[in-house]
Amino acid sequence: MDKRTFLKTAGLAGLGATLNLSSLKSAVAAVEGIDPSRVATDEDFWLAVRGDYSIKPDYINLENGYYCFMPQDTLEHQIQHMRRVNYEGSYYMRNARQKNKRIVAAKVAEVVGASADEMAITRNTTESLDLVIGGMDWQPGDEAVMAEQDYGAMLNHFKLVGKRFGVVNRLVSVPNHPKDDDEIVDLYASAITDKTRLLMVCHMINITGQVLPIRKICDMAHARGVEVMVDGAHAYSHIDFQMADLDCDYYGASLHKWLSAPLGSGMLYVKKDKIDNVWPLLAAGNFDSNDIRRLNHIGTDPVHVDLGIVNAIEYQKALGLKRKEARLKYLQQYWTSQLRDHPRVIINTPADVNRHGAIGNVHIEGWDPRELADTLFNDYRIFTVGINRPGVVGLRITPNVYTTPDELDALVAAIKELSA
Ligand SMILES: Cc1ncc(COP(=O)(O)O)c(C=O)c1O
Repeated sequence: MDKRTFLKTAGLAGLGATLNLSSLKSAVAAVEGIDPSRVATDEDFWLAVRGDYSIKPDYINLENGYYCFMPQDTLEHQIQHMRRVNYEGSYYMRNARQKNKRIVAAKVAEVVGASADEMAITRNTTESLDLVIGGMDWQPGDEAVMAEQDYGAMLNHFKLVGKRFGVVNRLVSVPNHPKDDDEIVDLYASAITDKTRLLMVCHMINITGQVLPIRKICDMAHARGVEVMVDGAHAYSHIDFQMADLDCDYYGASLHKWLSAPLGSGMLYVKKDKIDNVWPLLAAGNFDSNDIRRLNHIGTDPVHVDLGIVNAIEYQKALGLKRKEARLKYLQQYWTSQLRDHPRVIINTPADVNRHGAIGNVHIEGWDPRELADTLFNDYRIFTVGINRPGVVGLRITPNVYTTPDELDALVAAIKELSA
């Protein structure tokens, strides 16, 4: 073994045992070389994936957008990591904790082709993005651009910096069915003034599932001297992209969503030359101003979660992100295509395959979305969430890789019955 391979292997060994994945690997071997769009409809393959999960039989879970719970093997390893940290105690904390966090950051970065020194492991998207919003050197009158359909926690933090530093927030409203990318880019461009410093945009809007043209928005904003922060809560490990393709300045995501990593895991990417622009949330020690670890001090944290992230990445690698993305898109189209033209039913998610992933939003005219969600749960045992936000009224439907077409058929039948 050469020195490089030895060091790499020794580093990974410090992260604990790897997953077994024998059933997933044999299912993958049977579809190797087949185009992911064809594998997307191969129910035998996806039943093998479903077998990796422990699924509560009491209801059909179509609310995976909040938390994509772990497959069993990842969970068992997470429990082992907890035992190990508890067994080694302060010895782990003093000798392995920081080194492992950096190895994990490198692995999270690798998924999107970023460099480890641009990646911090956080607890969730809220921590990642609020760190940037709260950490900018705002001056009174500076402006920020965002959308009414963005996530509440970030909108609230922008309101806070508005109160605290006099930042002016300019909100656009993203149409649910844009004509083309230019409509979206022009919308964001229309809110930029010569005082704008930061533009926040969702990679995938959480309440509709719409994917936005991030690269084009970044190019437009950069040409006007505006930095772009992307809310990737729903895009990381859901759609296959490389950070270089987006060219954004900041990107935050929750790893407990589409990566199916343990709860309380997130990532923050900061372009190397922007690290120095952000004040940390909590002051860290002696790091260079462009060292990402400056932004990553939160005190003693549940470090076993870091180790579980690596297992979640292992699972995703074995499954294949391209296969996963193709299946998730297929599942969304499977049910929306049956309801799009149905009387009194409104689909709030674009049909264009480049503008969505797994998430879809459906409404029935005349219903309150929360009552509709309750009715689906109580009368049909289908678990979803009702959304009532500017421009978006309806149920958010989020299948995951273990969801079957039969489960979606139950949703379609229920919506048809309730809209009759
Ligand atoms: C678009 C978006 N941003 C941010 C978040 C916040 O994620 P977390 O609660 O994991 O910080 C969510 C959560 O659903 C989200 O959908």
